[in-house]
Amino acid sequence: MSASRQRTQVAIIGGGPAGLLLSHILDQQGIDTIVLERQSKDYVLARIRAGVLEAGSVQLLRDVGLGARMDQHGKPKDGTGIVWQNKPAFYINTAEWTGKQIMAYGQTAITEDLYAARERDGGHIINEAANVALHDLTSDTPHVTYEKDGVICRIDCDFVAACDGFHGIGRQSIPSDVLKTFERVYPFGWLGIMAKVPPLPDFVYAYHEKGFALAAQRNPMLSRYYVQCDATDTIDAWSDDRFWDELLARFPSDMASQIVTGPSIEKSIAPLRSFVAEPMQYGRMYLAGDAAHVVPPTGAKGLNLAFSDIYYLSRGFIEHYKNTRAHYLETYSQMALRRVWSAVNLSWRLTKLLHRFPQEDPFDERIRQNDYDLLLTSPAVQSALAHEYVGLPYED
Ligand code: APR
Ligand code: PHB
Repeated sequence: MSASRQRTQVAIIGGGPAGLLLSHILDQQGIDTIVLERQSKDYVLARIRAGVLEAGSVQLLRDVGLGARMDQHGKPKDGTGIVWQNKPAFYINTAEWTGKQIMAYGQTAITEDLYAARERDGGHIINEAANVALHDLTSDTPHVTYEKDGVICRIDCDFVAACDGFHGIGRQSIPSDVLKTFERVYPFGWLGIMAKVPPLPDFVYAYHEKGFALAAQRNPMLSRYYVQCDATDTIDAWSDDRFWDELLARFPSDMASQIVTGPSIEKSIAPLRSFVAEPMQYGRMYLAGDAAHVVPPTGAKGLNLAFSDIYYLSRGFIEHYKNTRAHYLETYSQMALRRVWSAVNLSWRLTKLLHRFPQEDPFDERIRQNDYDLLLTSPAVQSALAHEYVGLPYED
């Protein structure tokens, strides 16, 4: 088997939103990167993910020149609704409490924008890179190996950014006596569908004794809906008719009557977990995005956390190469984890609030009902939720 050898400043593992955004930002600063992605570009672009951007993510994308299509096709929203069986509805009014809006714009569209920008700018992205392995991470000369078209390739680099998701190689490269992980696996999943029908005006979370539901959107003719399902469910057990019946039953009748149903063009079940890996750096390797943390989608934090990681990590690399200072690289893990744990906390609390868990007892349900009553009646609680939902500020 032949071999090849390359060199770059930052080797990025993973061509999802985190890896592509990091490559884009560093390229703008004249810092050389190579992105190694094990899947094809089409495979990456076919992924269906969430569609809510925090205000900080919107600003970051605009600041790095990736806001044009988002501002053209995205929909700014003053917040997100909550409807609750036999109680008044609530609106997480981020505009009122924080002065900021969220943005309805799908992760798939963002990934398309990122790929388009990297290809326009001549970004070095290697798709279908197999058997990526990381070497000498605690030395000053780490390197990465991978296979492509029967060739074993080596990339010598200054740093490795592991943006390779929950199932990636980066986190696995941290020794078990260094790595600490924290996890909650939820006893249910979300069954999501995409349908070419007009969505409700706003995102709406629904609490109901039959289970959680969510009304979401991608554009004026593309809706995204979810229902809570058993963790062991398969999509074969969910015809479109069963899905729509369950969804409409979980919304108040006046709102259910506004929901336009139609054939699903995509249907999938996502397992729910909370997961955090500490530290988010090891030697000259830095974890970012789902490689370091996973949240249940209840707070729509997954993509937004990936972006704040990249904001912090790119600032560290830029400081290193421009000012030869190491402050932001040395403090990356602690700083990123402060925001990660805040988002993990909110996602856990919203998931507990909006989902019935198996084996719950009447005490649990009373606490849940009281939590919602407090949200309905307390301006302080409403303000706190709005600030967390729109996204806490990035640290200087
Ligand atoms: N070698 C190369 N590439 C890899 C490897 C590997 N060993 N393992 C994983 N990858 C790639 C995956 O194919 C994927 O394209 O890394 C990429 C990681 O992308 P994501 O999983 O999308 O993670 P991230 O970029 O952190 O974005 C987080 O995406 O999954 C959603 O809910 C998540 O919204 C959040 C966002
Ligand atoms: C989505 O748009 O798919 C979405 C929105 C809000 C969430 C989760 C998913 O909390």
